[in-house]
Amino acid sequence: MDKTRLIAPDEAGLARAAALIRAGQLVAFPTETVYGLGADARNDRAVAAIFDAKGRPRFNPLIAHVADVGAARALAHFTPQAEALAAAFWPGPLTLVLAQREGAGISPLVTADLPTVAIRVPAHPLARALLRAVGGPVAAPSANPSGRISPTRAEHVIDGLSGRIAGVIEGGACAVGVESTIIGFDASGSAVLLRPGGISAEAIEAVLGAPLSSGGSATAPTAPGQLESHYAPEAAVRLAAKDARPGEFRLGFGPGASDLNLSPSGDLIEAAANLFHYLREADHRAGAGAVIAVAPIPDTGLGRAINDRLRRAAAPRP
Ligand code: TXA
Ligand code: MG
Repeated sequence: MDKTRLIAPDEAGLARAAALIRAGQLVAFPTETVYGLGADARNDRAVAAIFDAKGRPRFNPLIAHVADVGAARALAHFTPQAEALAAAFWPGPLTLVLAQREGAGISPLVTADLPTVAIRVPAHPLARALLRAVGGPVAAPSANPSGRISPTRAEHVIDGLSGRIAGVIEGGACAVGVESTIIGFDASGSAVLLRPGGISAEAIEAVLGAPLSSGGSATAPTAPGQLESHYAPEAAVRLAAKDARPGEFRLGFGPGASDLNLSPSGDLIEAAANLFHYLREADHRAGAGAVIAVAPIPDTGLGRAINDRLRRAAAPRP
């Protein structure tokens, strides 16, 4: 493929990006969580190209992104609980896994042939404008090679996928910084946390008026590809490290000495926004064979998503 082009975040750029996607090409675009690698969700060949560009296993399904809840309802059956969550958190960093409607027109490659489909209405103005311009569902995983750190800036996308995709919309840094929270529903209709993310479990429980069960990442791998090593930097990662040992690179949180600090004031929202950029930065600065010693991070609010990503970053590599 030709060189990946950087697409300006203006009207002409968005029109060009939408035309490329409608023509079956891959274009990365900013969302409030991370950059997504977009393709026409109704086009089998375009969706297949996502898996090839990322080196992603075909059994790991993708999220369909749409412009609004009306477009989402055309793809899937909404339960009252799903409606309540959509009303509270869309547009925003929430993904709902729902029973797919017959004739929704989504490529079976998007859902890995599951009867369910994962749907999200992103909040980022460029993502919304792109979705309106495409005029249909856009399948988009995070725009990184499979298993590596998710991209929160256009240059991260270029680092990982240059030459393998048609373009990337230059949209600056992502505000939330960790991927969407994924909520599914069990056989009895109760909400299940499949992946902690940009909306805290506490906020979701407040809307539902009931506790979430976690059926995803921690226990049964309901969401395929949720258990193995992921978000892996080149360096090794040591978690909940009270102090750095000699030679280690210290990734801090809260007050105290560090080489780089996710949030000196101990703010979990700030730490989430910095997480992937700082993991990359730590990797560059620490050097080959290094260890990144990450400070303990509270497991509440966005801390749950941060700790989930850090555990995967530290997991044994295949
Ligand atoms: O914030 C985000 O969610 C970003 C931006 C680009 O929207 N996207 C993202 O996509 O993180 P990805 O592909 O990296 O993660 C999607 C997750 C995968 O773990 C996949 O297994 C799960 O969603 N998933 C997709 N469809 C599913 C389904 N039908 N049932 C269960 N899990 C599903
Ligand atoms: Mg990903």
